[in-house]
Amino acid sequence: MSTRTMRAIRIHEHGGPEVLRYDEVPIPRPGPGEVLVRVHAAGVNPPDWYLRNGLTRMPGKAESTVTLPVIPGTDVSGVIEAIAADVDDLAVGDEVFGLLRFPGFDGSTYAEYVAAPASDLARKPAGVDHVHAAGAPMAGLTAWQFLIELGHDHPSPFQESRHRSTVIDADTTVLVNGAAGGVGHFALQLAKWRGARVIAVASGAHESFLNKLGADRFIDYTKSRPEELVHDIDLVLDTVGGPDSKRFLRTLKRGGAQFPVLPGDFDREQTAKLGVTVSSAQVRSNAAQLAELGRLLDAGTVHVAIDSTFALADARAAHERAARGHIQGKIVLTVA
Ligand SMILES: NC(=O)c1ccc[n+]([C@@H]2O[C@H](COP(=O)([O-])OP(=O)(O)OC[C@H]3O[C@@H](n4cnc5c(N)ncnc54)[C@H](OP(=O)(O)O)[C@@H]3O)[C@@H](O)[C@H]2O)c1
Repeated sequence: MSTRTMRAIRIHEHGGPEVLRYDEVPIPRPGPGEVLVRVHAAGVNPPDWYLRNGLTRMPGKAESTVTLPVIPGTDVSGVIEAIAADVDDLAVGDEVFGLLRFPGFDGSTYAEYVAAPASDLARKPAGVDHVHAAGAPMAGLTAWQFLIELGHDHPSPFQESRHRSTVIDADTTVLVNGAAGGVGHFALQLAKWRGARVIAVASGAHESFLNKLGADRFIDYTKSRPEELVHDIDLVLDTVGGPDSKRFLRTLKRGGAQFPVLPGDFDREQTAKLGVTVSSAQVRSNAAQLAELGRLLDAGTVHVAIDSTFALADARAAHERAARGHIQGKIVLTVA
């Protein structure tokens, strides 16, 4: 019996964007609990280049989830082409989107077909095309799990206690640092959906984009230091994170919280003295939350902004674009 093949991007050795190879490989077969998705678009996310650069396990995972060569990618939007016998809530022909097998590096979405756990997939919102749907899963779920509801009890690699979101309503002021990026632009819109006043911090080129998404105030971090301009903030969501993140602590009111998406370097004594909470989390695949986000996308309450699209064969150019930074929304690979 001949093996059916497909085109896919594979990493054979770690390195820069040039290691992304456009290969011909067998079409995967869906295992128990899985469906075969004909990929229409694949979202591009930071873990894709972490894997390309040589990281083979996420923080908190003892074992590597990958061996080379590997197909990168976690985010997908496409159409179900085949289905395992034990999957009964999805059908051939359904349009679906999802964050696959995360945290893990075996999503394998940079391909014409992917075998996807049915439990990671939600129905694609009918009014949203595949490119926009493929931009939503990882970045949208990260914003959701930080701001709205974590939605699982798995231990965090970043902290002992469970991450808890805070109340966001009309009395809340939220500052989003890195507001124009994948996670940031969803966070801004989810905070607005909940009624908050949102301060968006980004470089100057993103000002009108962020104002259109609903930002109440814009701060260009290349011209001024946000932590010197604002105070009495209820919640800082910092998508840039890292060692510099702690400078935002002084913007918080007592009882406020800071959520570094990339865990930073915080001093417990200092946060206790200020009366603020610092909490982080690691995003996980979650079909139920994605379905809720999908309803907001369909209603036009939340929009997926597309920074740029590239054909699957040009994944290298997509990663080169990402490396230049200043991303506005999402980079997406078009496949079917
Ligand atoms: N904890 C988790 O589970 C989780 C999940 C998803 C992502 N992450 C991490 O979160 C980070 C963001 O991910 P993403 O997908 O949103 O990345 P992204 O799409 O590349 O967005 C990053 C944004 O930050 C802005 N930025 C860069 N330097 C800045 C600075 N000094 N101050 C303010 N803004 C700055 C960039 O544009 P401008 O500089 O032009 O404003 C860009 O829009 C990554 O490090 C990723 O690994 C963590």
